[in-house]
Amino acid sequence: MRRSSRLPDHFEPNPLSQLLAERRAAGLEVLDLTASNPTACGFDYPEAEIRSALSAPSVLRYAADPQGAPTARQAIASYHGHGLRAEDLLLTASTSEGYALLFKLLGNPSDEVLVPSPSYPLFDWLARLEGMVARPVSSYFHERWHLDLGALEAAVSERTCAVVVVNPNNPTGQFLSKTEWKALTDLCARRNLALLVDEVFSDYALEAAGDALSTTLEERDPPCPLFLLSGLSKIAALPQVKLGWIAVRGPGAADHLEALAFLADQYLSVSASAQAAAPALLALAPSLQAQVRRRLRANLRALDASLAAHPQLSRLPVEGGWSVLLRRPALEGDEACACRLLRETGVLAHPGSFFDLPADGHLVLSLLTPETVFREGLARALPRL
Ligand SMILES: Cc1ncc(COP(=O)(O)O)c(C=O)c1O
Repeated sequence: MRRSSRLPDHFEPNPLSQLLAERRAAGLEVLDLTASNPTACGFDYPEAEIRSALSAPSVLRYAADPQGAPTARQAIASYHGHGLRAEDLLLTASTSEGYALLFKLLGNPSDEVLVPSPSYPLFDWLARLEGMVARPVSSYFHERWHLDLGALEAAVSERTCAVVVVNPNNPTGQFLSKTEWKALTDLCARRNLALLVDEVFSDYALEAAGDALSTTLEERDPPCPLFLLSGLSKIAALPQVKLGWIAVRGPGAADHLEALAFLADQYLSVSASAQAAAPALLALAPSLQAQVRRRLRANLRALDASLAAHPQLSRLPVEGGWSVLLRRPALEGDEACACRLLRETGVLAHPGSFFDLPADGHLVLSLLTPETVFREGLARALPRL
């Protein structure tokens, strides 16, 4: 039987996942410093409010709207502010689905999107599954991460249809600076490219620089088509609700929304309960975010205190988001280091190579990890690095 070449050649787990599965099957302890599922990280969720939001009377009626229920879109527009309107939005079941719709909208098979890297590793597959290619363009680190705008411009070809940035980025935590934003939108306008900006972490600024662009919605009239992606999975720490959205601005926005609605109409994948619950769940977002931010800050403080005893190790600034990059002497490759740590100490950390860090010498830790696990994990792992 023939199978699409868009799929991976094999589904073998990588060595770290394999080791993890073996450890868990053997009942051995794992101190998971990569925890990124907020519903399994010990937060205090207002259960009654969440249950009641998800069981509104309107969930008994099916009122299909390919753009998404107007009441949900209005609540999202009000949440974001900056002049966003309900008609600028299209609802999706997740940001992943948002990317799939946008790649269908923007590209033909073998077209490319440029992705400043390191970045969210899923882009490779999300593009490939649409028959497209996500081409990484390395950012560089000098006191903070910077987009390499010259390299981005040089990478544009007749196949390029868009640039995809994450603001703040995962896993580097980098916010776009206002200067980068201006140069990036100018580049996209000049080269006829769309700009996709993933702002799922934009509410989680931690050590943002003075010129950080906290949200690209500050720009009401961008010179290029702008597609902003976000959703409840990070904004309200509710990934299980499965509600994301795309906000569209810039030249041709109304036409792009019409085409996106056509695409979404083929699937109609957003559930009635997620749409009905959106206004109430968004109202809970500030208090859930406050809990998450307390966790992120507490873990960052614990990391700094632990690093003081290990001068060979350091961390990079965390302008925002849920991850931190730990820098270590690159005496062994990142993946080998992560495997050794897991084997010797039971501590699970992600190798920087999983996120296309430009060189060995980085581990990625999740600041969402429950604090006691994070501290114990650091105490075991740092002396072995
Ligand atoms: C940059 C980025 N975008 C999107 C997502 C996931 O969003 P969703 O659950 O809406 O697909 C993640 C999850 O880690 C992420 O890191």
